[in-house]
Amino acid sequence: MTVQTFRAQNFRCLRDVEVGLATDYNVIFGANASGKTSILEALGYLGRGKSFRGAAPSELVRHGESEFVLFGQVRAGERTSRVGVRNSAEGLEVKIDGATGGGAAALATMLPLQVIDPDVHNLVAGAPDERRRYLDWIAFHVEHGYLDAWRHFRRALKQRNAALRSASGPRLIQSWNAEFVTLAEKIDAGRRQALTAAIPALEEVGSELLGGPVGFEYQAGWPQEKGLLTLLERGVDRDLQLGSTQYGPHRADLKLVYDERRARKLVSRGQQKLLACAMILGATETALTALERPLLLLLDDPAAELDGDSLRQLMARVVNLGCQVVATSLQPEPRLFPETPAVFHVEHGAVARIE
Ligand SMILES: Nc1ncnc2c1ncn2[C@@H]1O[C@H](COP(=O)(O)OP(=O)(O)OP(=O)(O)O)[C@@H](O)[C@H]1O
Ligand SMILES: [Mg+2]
Repeated sequence: MTVQTFRAQNFRCLRDVEVGLATDYNVIFGANASGKTSILEALGYLGRGKSFRGAAPSELVRHGESEFVLFGQVRAGERTSRVGVRNSAEGLEVKIDGATGGGAAALATMLPLQVIDPDVHNLVAGAPDERRRYLDWIAFHVEHGYLDAWRHFRRALKQRNAALRSASGPRLIQSWNAEFVTLAEKIDAGRRQALTAAIPALEEVGSELLGGPVGFEYQAGWPQEKGLLTLLERGVDRDLQLGSTQYGPHRADLKLVYDERRARKLVSRGQQKLLACAMILGATETALTALERPLLLLLDDPAAELDGDSLRQLMARVVNLGCQVVATSLQPEPRLFPETPAVFHVEHGAVARIE
């Protein structure tokens, strides 16, 4: 999937911006606060229905306006689709080729994308939920039916936690256990399969970027030597005390093993970024193999935190994937790519193609 043309209206500082993108490499440069990240964030929103900066829709609407609208022409093989998103007081409205409905999942299917931004090291150094989302992204693109299983599990978890917090008593709570376990095991199986597909790529890219072997260790969210059902039954008093379910896939993590010790504690910030980039690129490669189509990669200031050699290695891996790439930079930086990219200048939220 590649974005051919893209339009953003009243999104952050972008009043009305239209950009025709190259199907391979694009560089957007401009001074601080000119609107570079806003453009990537808008493109990211078109493929995810949410901001990769974690901003609420109200923060994304241009000051003084009441809604933002995004539009993209997305090409997948021979087919071109029109993808539109409107976010107003009524919420998110998604339109694909004129048809409404589908929401964020339809966007994610239409325009799968990954983001590397200056906060990417959080994938390594941050809380486990970042890594669960990461695992789920791979599983969503690799496994049919994963999204449904995930939605059902979320609902079961919510219901069980609500029962724990009400005065329902252990009996009612226990009645949720069987369904909870069935769904939990589906999520676990989906994540394991996703990882089996992804780990060779993750380890290969990771070892290359970090110059040494990198390992990944999946943790399901409960001790595997014990069955989840038994753990839930035995742990009901603790769950009641804490008002939430202590074991399950909502507690999963992906531990990183680097240099035989835990990477999260050891690596420098630059190394954390490289490791996180390796994870993103490995996941992208895995999804690409499953979908048999290029994805969109958004690189916000890829040079941040990296020395010249590391940046060159990272960009070589990026190019290797054959994805559509949109990268930002403070300077006009055509050397990011081996071939001449399309270069855009952004100033006060207005974009002009210069090469
Ligand atoms: N809702 C909004 N309405 C109007 N302007 C906004 C809104 N949200 C953010 N801005 C402004 O948009 C401008 C561009 O921000 P953006 O983060 O895109 O800049 P940037 O070019 O990525 O800068 P940097 O080089 O520092 O990363 C900033 O001045 C910011 O204050
Ligand atoms: Mg920025």
